[in-house]
Amino acid sequence: MSVLSRLVPIASQRFPKLSSRVLASSGYTLDVDSFGDGAFSVWSDATARRQDRAWQPIIADALAGNPREDVVSLHAAVDALPARPSSLLESGCGGGYNSAVLTAWLPEADYLGIDISASMIALATEHYPAQNFEVASAYDLPAADSSRDVVIDGVALIHMPDWQRAVSEYARVTRGHVILHGVTVTELPTTRFAKYAYGQPAQEFVFNRAELLGVAEKNGLRLMSTHPGLDYDLADYLGIPSVSEAWVLSLA
Ligand SMILES: C[S@@+](CC[C@H](N)C(=O)[O-])C[C@H]1O[C@@H](n2cnc3c(N)ncnc32)[C@H](O)[C@@H]1O
Repeated sequence: MSVLSRLVPIASQRFPKLSSRVLASSGYTLDVDSFGDGAFSVWSDATARRQDRAWQPIIADALAGNPREDVVSLHAAVDALPARPSSLLESGCGGGYNSAVLTAWLPEADYLGIDISASMIALATEHYPAQNFEVASAYDLPAADSSRDVVIDGVALIHMPDWQRAVSEYARVTRGHVILHGVTVTELPTTRFAKYAYGQPAQEFVFNRAELLGVAEKNGLRLMSTHPGLDYDLADYLGIPSVSEAWVLSLA
């Protein structure tokens, strides 16, 4: 582990508000209530802009052939699909970053990105005017039953208090596969925690592997493959050993 990667968890925990202006994530805590009532609101303009500043270089690098580990894992998940999809729905698309790589890998695919944050969707539309984006919730996807070849969760399930409902929506809308990109998984019980994400209080879940799989299976989704993503070990912050993965699920 490099000196920098040791310093980041220490700085982000000791100076959460200060570091939240520079780091994507800081101030991890299991004391979710300490953020106060109504703290976890939809991402604001300022949060959207901070995430955007962090993501534009990551996507430029990926398109230039130097993808970060999480982009590599999304690519591996797409490659693991048995056939090239012709339609994609990304839930929690944020500023539309994945649309840039997905449409580069699958130019023939029709893409729709949805996000609950109007600020994120405004940025997505500004950056990628040729793509379709909509403000909508993962709990009530704006798509008919079995209408998309692949539904992709873009690192969003980890932020959803009713994640089981989102998984059931993904199963309803797909006619083939679901990719859960950037799910944080542990062998310990599923745990909710809080942090600052791009300076805004955010809640997040780390999923017990068997429980997440059980919810997928209850919705008729079978795990086909998993692909390692970013190094995201919550042991450094919360004492919960975890990994970030992309899961490819198939309608049974
Ligand atoms: C960590 S960001 C990921 C953005 C983008 N997909 C990426 O990989 O960079 C999570 C996104 O999920 C969105 N989100 C959270 N809860 C949601 C929900 N219930 N329905 C739709 N989007 C949601 C947030 O607004 C945010 O843009």
